[in-house]
Amino acid sequence: MLLRTTVIFLCLFSGYFIFLQSNALLNPPPSHSAKQNIYTLNNNHRITAIPDTHSQNEEVVALGKLLFFDTRLSKNNSVSCASCHNLHNGGVDGLEVSSGIFNQTGTINSPTVLNSSLNFKQFWDGRANTLEDQIDGPINSPIEMNSSWPQVITKLNSHPRYLEKFAALYPLSGITKNTIKNAIASYERSLLTPNSRFDLFLKGQKDAINATEKQGYQLFINYGCIACHQGVNAGGNMFSKIGIMHDYIADRGNPTKADLGRYQVTQKETDKNVFKVPGLRNIEITGPYFHDGKVKTLESAVEKMAYYQLGIELPDNEVKLIVSFLKTLTGKLTQ
Ligand code: HEC
Ligand code: HEC
Repeated sequence: MLLRTTVIFLCLFSGYFIFLQSNALLNPPPSHSAKQNIYTLNNNHRITAIPDTHSQNEEVVALGKLLFFDTRLSKNNSVSCASCHNLHNGGVDGLEVSSGIFNQTGTINSPTVLNSSLNFKQFWDGRANTLEDQIDGPINSPIEMNSSWPQVITKLNSHPRYLEKFAALYPLSGITKNTIKNAIASYERSLLTPNSRFDLFLKGQKDAINATEKQGYQLFINYGCIACHQGVNAGGNMFSKIGIMHDYIADRGNPTKADLGRYQVTQKETDKNVFKVPGLRNIEITGPYFHDGKVKTLESAVEKMAYYQLGIELPDNEVKLIVSFLKTLTGKLTQ
């Protein structure tokens, strides 16, 4: 009985997705039929809706939020996580590369913290496996917060509000590196942006996106953007080289250490210029784009992606259609 119910459920469930995908494929591309390109698409190549709710303990989330906005985490109390991840600005700083303590210039563009829990690894080069591990980076980085765990713990210990909250939520350990990380990462896991218009469409609301946006989605599938930007975060679940069909770094000039990407973690030749494929959720508001922050507009990002990753020179009208689709990925922060 249980097995039968499960089978029926699975059939209904996969039928639902096939229905959605084939429905999206009903309208042919507007100008010319898109080439299938180097990728063979299969049923895994799809974007799924962000869950409506998160499963984090709300009190821990509230403590994590306090910490995320607290400049005490930096050496001279001048920088907080929110300085570079502005939640009123898509979870980014809007700069080409970030600016940290003593206004020092960073080396790479700040990715968003919104939906970052949906990524399979953290950082552009994927050097942290979890949100907890990621936090060691900014705390210790001499150009970001320039602090250390002993310093942070001493400062928080002299603050009655933190002593009280940590004692209540972590009675056995109090204020430690791990409990601080747990609280901040729990807050980050709560930063989901469900119910974008595209998600409403995925959930069955056919008119949540208009005909132009559907055409853009169609092109996104047909050209094979979805081979890399896929899953719940429309990316964030694999690595890829930037510049598969043409050399992006050489064309841009002035190669930097940061351009090496994943190579810095693995020292493998094949990992040169390889990055985590960024999620495209809220992409409308998280510019400037690419790891180097050199790409100012979404139009230009789409055009460059087509050229460097797929070897296609997209006509302007198709760039616009894809951009109109990408703008439907802007969701609502649940808190
Ligand atoms: C000075 C600016 C700055 C500060 C302060 C800062 N970040 Fe970041 N953050 C960045 C940059 C730049 C990156 C990308 C670094 C890289 O990939 O090498 C990043 C990456 C991340 C990522 C990875 C996202 C992804 O998709 O890969 C997360 C999560 C994150 N930061 C959270 C935090 C938290 C939590 C704090 C506070 C403890 C913090 N950041 C402080 C600039 C900053
Ligand atoms: C082979 C994998 C691959 C394909 C195919 C691909 N992308 Fe990307 N995309 C990436 C990678 C990797 C990056 C990060 C590049 C960098 O930062 O240097 C990226 C970055 C982006 C960005 C900027 C994201 C940000 O936060 O800076 C956008 C927008 C984008 N892609 C859209 C597209 C579109 C539209 C297509 C289809 C025309 C496409 N991509 C095809 C791998 C891919």
